[in-house]
Amino acid sequence: MNILAIESSCDETSAAVVEKTHSGFKIKSNIVASQIDIHKLYGGVVPEIASRKHIEAISTVCYEAMEKAETGLSDIGLVAVTMNPGLIGALLVGVNFAKALAVTNKIPLVGVNHIHGHIAAAYLTEENAPKPPFLALVVSGGHTSIYRVEDYTKIVTIGQTRDDAIGEAFDKIGRILGIAYPAGKEFDALSTKGFIEATGAESGFYNKYKKSEAYKTQDFKLPSPALADGSLDFSFSGLKTAAINLFHKYEQRSMSIPSALFCANYTYTAVEAVAKKIDAAISQNPGCPLVISGGVAANSHLRLRLSELCKKRGVEFFAPPVSLCGDNGAMIAAQGYYEYGTGNIKDASLNASALD
Ligand code: KG4
Ligand code: ZN
Repeated sequence: MNILAIESSCDETSAAVVEKTHSGFKIKSNIVASQIDIHKLYGGVVPEIASRKHIEAISTVCYEAMEKAETGLSDIGLVAVTMNPGLIGALLVGVNFAKALAVTNKIPLVGVNHIHGHIAAAYLTEENAPKPPFLALVVSGGHTSIYRVEDYTKIVTIGQTRDDAIGEAFDKIGRILGIAYPAGKEFDALSTKGFIEATGAESGFYNKYKKSEAYKTQDFKLPSPALADGSLDFSFSGLKTAAINLFHKYEQRSMSIPSALFCANYTYTAVEAVAKKIDAAISQNPGCPLVISGGVAANSHLRLRLSELCKKRGVEFFAPPVSLCGDNGAMIAAQGYYEYGTGNIKDASLNASALD
């Protein structure tokens, strides 16, 4: 069966054609039209601009996805669309387009939760996909959550951030350092530079960092976002505030912060907090594999740290390729397939919601 999927929850208009084969999922096309260059000017996503850009792009993006996949609407067995959570105006564009397409062409329609879509990015392979039950970590610009995936459509939250998301923590502090939105990728590269500088090692630097002189002597220690209350919850706002205070302190002394070393330390603090909670989640769910996804799952230090942790704990580790970690239509297709299998079919009354 071919699935046509649409994603428009934030600043990417995406459409994909994905085939469910007997062994897994085959991505026939996955077109992503990014609006980042426009939002960059404002240092973050402007919701009204996002909605307008989705309207401009959606027909072309869907057309391109069908053309690249060499499929016509008569070959499509299911239309899947992101229905929540996200920017309401942005979501409405995708939902209305998908409804019109499905209803006029008499194709079954399903609505997909964006976060569940991120988890489903791990199914987009024709071999060795994770099978529930498993643990899932979704780290993005809007989310930092740990789930227990009981079944493909039964997903239980077991930990989450109580304020800011990890991606937001990278983007906001990146902005102060002069990195354009979204800062995650460049922050990652600068951190690598900082780890190498601190340890003098070209490889294995993350693990060597804590023993380095730079770590021991630096005056920019930051508070851990891992809440010390026995829960699997996070708070990233304290980390952000501490970093901002540090910049002020340097400014008052007319000094500039060594940015690579600072980024390394900030990344280390954020990644160690996530690793601590994932370690606890593994203890509470013995033997459960771990899936990581969402834009921040592209972070090289986080990927390595968690893959090593899983190896040490003897649990399987799954991370989608970096190209599928960010927002894309193919992940919505994969989750849509399971929503369809569960009978969660929608009609023209399907509505979008900003909430989870
Ligand atoms: O999942 P996503 O594309 O959109 C949301 O649903 O939010 O995630 C975007 C987030 C941004 O905050 C971006 O800075 C972050 O993912 N990101 C990264 C990396 N690549 C993207 N964060 C850290 N390291 C990266 N390599
Ligand atoms: Zn996302």
